[in-house]
Amino acid sequence: MNGKTIVLAADHAGFPLKNAVKAQLDAAGYRTIDMGTHSSESCDYPLYAEAGCRKVLEGEAELCVLCCGTGVGMSIAANKIRGIRAACCSDVYSARYTRLHNDANVLCLGARVLGEGLAWELVEVFVTTEFEGGKHARRVGLIADLEAREADSGKENG
Ligand code: RB5
Repeated sequence: MNGKTIVLAADHAGFPLKNAVKAQLDAAGYRTIDMGTHSSESCDYPLYAEAGCRKVLEGEAELCVLCCGTGVGMSIAANKIRGIRAACCSDVYSARYTRLHNDANVLCLGARVLGEGLAWELVEVFVTTEFEGGKHARRVGLIADLEAREADSGKENG
């Protein structure tokens, strides 16, 4: 059994890719949590983005993989959640560096963009690459500061 727990979630468009990625992660010895969806029936990706991201924020999973048609809707929704750093990737370099430099905790994949082979390479590099820290920690801290200021200005304007 691998040390990390990976939570997965998808909408109807991402459903087949989510299942394929989950099967690969299971075979590689990761613990996985599947937050759905569980069919190809049309559904709303922001709900699944939230379900997956909450598991990371609650400490039940280290990382999250979200799949929709493009990966973009999932990434936009996920990045609204405080503490989430979601990256929509379709190349291996970005998948590696978003862990090394951004400490991304969510990888978003486009099932209508990627083949399953490339998607698995992206996931594999994402889950096996660790954050570099150092000057990158300062920058990630600045993102957290920005999030906090945005939350505060929302309260003031509410
Ligand atoms: C669903 O048709 C599609 O819009 C969704 O999966 C995603 O690509 C949105 O960004």
